[in-house]
Amino acid sequence: MTRGERRAIIRGTGSSLPARVLTNADLERMVDTSDEWITSRTGIRERRIAKDDEYMSQFATRAAEAALLSAGLEASQVDLIICATVTPDMPIPATACIVQNNLGAAGAAAFDLAAGCSGFIYALAVADRFVSTGEYGTVLVIGAELLSKYTDWSDRTTCVLFGDGAGAVVLTPGAAPYGVLASAMHADGSMADFIYVPAGGTREPASERSVTERRHFIRMRGNETFKMAVRSMEETSRAVLEKAGLAPADVDLFIPHQANRRIIDAVGSRLGLREDQVYVNIERVGNTSAASIPVALDEAVRKGLVRKGDNLLFAAFGTGLTWGAAVCKWGW
Ligand code: ACO
Repeated sequence: MTRGERRAIIRGTGSSLPARVLTNADLERMVDTSDEWITSRTGIRERRIAKDDEYMSQFATRAAEAALLSAGLEASQVDLIICATVTPDMPIPATACIVQNNLGAAGAAAFDLAAGCSGFIYALAVADRFVSTGEYGTVLVIGAELLSKYTDWSDRTTCVLFGDGAGAVVLTPGAAPYGVLASAMHADGSMADFIYVPAGGTREPASERSVTERRHFIRMRGNETFKMAVRSMEETSRAVLEKAGLAPADVDLFIPHQANRRIIDAVGSRLGLREDQVYVNIERVGNTSAASIPVALDEAVRKGLVRKGDNLLFAAFGTGLTWGAAVCKWGW
C-alpha cells in the first residue's frame, strides 16, 4: 500500500452506558422544571447517570473491550490509546493509562485529549494521522465522559442536559476507497467562558471557599453556545465534505454530536439532509459530550443502519470553544 492509498479504517465499535436512568419526571422533583420544557427545548426525555461509586475509566474500558471484540482484535495488538475526555478519573495521571492497564494493552502509548464535546472528532483526526502515515497499526479512540460528576444538580439551566457514557472505535490500516476521508479541527479560545468549570485547576485550586461557592461545577452560557453550535457545525461539515470531494447529498448517515435536538435539526436542515439521513439518540442519552458520537455510531452499526460503502459524516462543537467534523467511507 502506498501512503496515498493507506487509510485509517474503523474496524470495530463499542459503547457502555450506566444502568441508572434519570427521567425528566425525576428532574421535576429536583429543580423547578417540567418534562414539557425539557422535551420541547432540548429533545431529551431521559439520560443515564453513573452511581456515586462509579468512575469514567470503568465505562471507557468496557466500551474499548466491546470495540476490540467487534473488530476481532486482542488488547495486546493495540499500539495507541487516545481517550477524549474532560472528566478524567482524577487530574493526574491520564485516564488513558488506567484504561491501558485495565485492557492489558501493555506497550501501547496512551494519552487523554481535552476538547470537550468535540473530543471524539479531535481524537479521530489525530488517530487518522498516525494510522494513515504508517506510524501506528491499531489505534483505540475512546470518547468517555461522566459529566454528572461536574453537574450542579440545583442548576436547572444545565442539569437537564447532560448524561454519562463511553463509546470507542478501533482504527486499523486499510486501502482506499474506505476509511477516514477527511477531518477538520477548530478552536476559538475567546469563547472559553461559554462553558467552563471555574475551580479545581491551577488557577483556582480546591478550597473550602471554592466548594461552598459551588465553583467545581459546569457553568454555561447556553444561548450563545447554541447559536455558535449551529453555525460552526454547518460550516465545518461543508468544508470536510468538500475536502473529501463529496456534497451533502452524498451523505448516507450524519451522526452529529447530540447536544440539543433543535441544534441537530437546524444543522441537518441547513445541510439539506432528510430526517432519515440523521442519527438521533439524544432523547434516551442526553448530551454525553465526547462520548456522544461514538455511542451513537455504535448503536447505528448494531442496528444495521451502516452498510459497506456508506459515507458517514460526523460533526461536533463543545467547550473551548472547539468544533470539527470528519467524513468516513464505511467498510474495508
Ligand atoms: N426548566 C425550565 N425553565 C428553564 C430551564 C429548565 N430546565 N432552563 C432554563 N429555563 C428558563 C430560563 O431561566 C429562561 O427563563 P427567562 O426567560 O425567565 O429568563 C428561559 O427558560 C429560556 O432560557 P434560554 O437559556 O434562553 O433557553 P434556550 O431556548 O436557549 O435553551 C438550552 C437553553 C437548552 C441550554 C440551549 O441554549 C442549549 O441547548 N444550548 C447549547 C448548550 C450546549 O449544547 N452545550 C454543550 C456543550 S457542553 C461541553 O462541551 C462539555
